[in-house]
Amino acid sequence: MKKRVLVVSSANIDFVQRVKRMPDGGETVIEQNGYSYVPGGKGANSALAFARVGADTVFCTKMGKDDNAKKLKKLYEAEGIDTRFIGEDREEATGLASIIVEEDGQNRIIVYPGANNCLCENDVEEAFTCYPDGVFIQFEIPDEASVAAARFARENGIPFFVDAGPARADYPLEKLQGVEILSPNETECEILTGIKPDSVQNCLKAAIRLATVTEAKYVVLKLGRRGCFVYDGKYYNIIPAHKVSVADTTAAGDVFTAALSYAYMQKGDILEAARFATLAAAICVSREGASTSIPTLKEIKAFAKSIKEAK
Ligand code: ATP
Ligand code: RIB
Repeated sequence: MKKRVLVVSSANIDFVQRVKRMPDGGETVIEQNGYSYVPGGKGANSALAFARVGADTVFCTKMGKDDNAKKLKKLYEAEGIDTRFIGEDREEATGLASIIVEEDGQNRIIVYPGANNCLCENDVEEAFTCYPDGVFIQFEIPDEASVAAARFARENGIPFFVDAGPARADYPLEKLQGVEILSPNETECEILTGIKPDSVQNCLKAAIRLATVTEAKYVVLKLGRRGCFVYDGKYYNIIPAHKVSVADTTAAGDVFTAALSYAYMQKGDILEAARFATLAAAICVSREGASTSIPTLKEIKAFAKSIKEAK
């Protein structure tokens, strides 16, 4: 039986431009690379990643009453995602992210949350009627909604997983007590703990701090091209990233944490899950865009096989 995952998070349309270099303040640069509109949003990227690795995926979010919402919903349905709990706000537009991708694949993202800001506790409570086996939360929605999702999960004995993006220093982390896996990236880790995870010592310090505040079973720090740092409350492990040609890192974090959570839900082995997530994220960074870069289980297995054979 497939495990059912409830993703409580955001949906956006991404406006993407690839640039040779970022303009300075007050400067205009002309870029001939064209532009694209790509389905994105941290929650939607994670929901698509769950669906593509084989989870029975339910997505709880809020979009506007506009063409972007229609386009996005159609994509989710085509991917087999349960869209019953995607609400519509009549006043606000569907979320939009402006993304600039530099030549080395690094991105800068500005999000206009729009309808994502209207997701509330009642919406989340209703979504819990889908009887999930696991709950996945990010911070691109109001705190009220993410905190409620954690609380409902805790009260119902359902494991919940937190991708801490995008982080704010004043996020009420202590309200996520009992999280199964907490997984921030480097920036989010520094914002939430004040510790830059730039050495093993600092990763450990930050992970201990996060685990103490949230009583997390596992803290997994995403460290970009350095891989990830896995802390289980006593021991730590570092899983290096795969060497791939990087096209665009957009959605790497979303894909990583979704793949990590689902693999962990399947077997309960955090290191095996982190290795699986590292494979999935490596494929993601080698492709352009958000939803367009998310691999399927078949692609992840084929990549793992090719690495084994190359050894
Ligand atoms: P995003 O760019 O979507 O915001 P993120 O900052 O949340 O991503 P990262 O830590 O950059 O998250 O990446 C998540 C995972 O993706 C890493 O732990 C690693 O496994 C993989 N990854 C990221 N960058 C690279 C890279 N340059 N080469 C190979 N793998 C990478
Ligand atoms: O994590 C990548 C995502 O962040 C993009 O798809 C964008 O929509 C923002 O939410």
